[in-house]
Amino acid sequence: MTQAPNTNNIVWHHATVTRKRREQLNGHRGGIVWFTGLSGAGKSTIAHSVEEHLHQMGCRTFVFDGDNVRHGLCSDLGFSPADRHENLRRIGEMGNLFTEAGIIALTAFISPFGADREMVKNMVASGDFLEIYCRCPLEVCETRDVKGLYRRARSGEIKEFTGVSAPYEEPANASLVIDTNLMDIEQSTRLVLELIADRGIIPT
Ligand code: ADX
Repeated sequence: MTQAPNTNNIVWHHATVTRKRREQLNGHRGGIVWFTGLSGAGKSTIAHSVEEHLHQMGCRTFVFDGDNVRHGLCSDLGFSPADRHENLRRIGEMGNLFTEAGIIALTAFISPFGADREMVKNMVASGDFLEIYCRCPLEVCETRDVKGLYRRARSGEIKEFTGVSAPYEEPANASLVIDTNLMDIEQSTRLVLELIADRGIIPT
């Protein structure tokens, strides 16, 4: 459930064009496909690949990517636990709005704390939220080091870096776990698409 405003003077306005009507128009349901995992685990790559397939199937989609969102909506936030919490709260609310708009929102954020992922889950109706854990050993992510950030974190230049100097809490009950060091992008994409179909977000 979305957070209530901190004043009594704001009243929710009900639209005549409802989520149900938007979904009928789109031919699929809205929802949030939430990717979590270490930096370099493949969250964004898989999210964009899933989006490409969904788009080609005629679905309305949008990818929220940690690195991109932190340039705009969340550019005021850093990487302290409190800032990460606020980052994910905003994305959860955004995902809710997109779901209401009948869109499939794919989100790629490290989201390292179980409590924050739980918060987002509780903001969203249960059938609207899928949690995908992109599991990959730290050593592999660190070897990939696509953005050169692990090297800078190891040298102490970047503080509170997930996996190096900040924790990553593995999800205990993810809807799907993908071992991205063992599976290629196409296999991973297919698993996510199957899950989205199984949960009735897109027609089978
Ligand atoms: S989250 O923890 O709040 O979910 P988010 O996914 O938005 O993180 O941002 C992570 C991205 O920011 C990483 O992929 C990496 O490119 C970059 N980054 C910069 N500093 C850090 C840091 N201290 N810890 C983790 N990622 C960082």
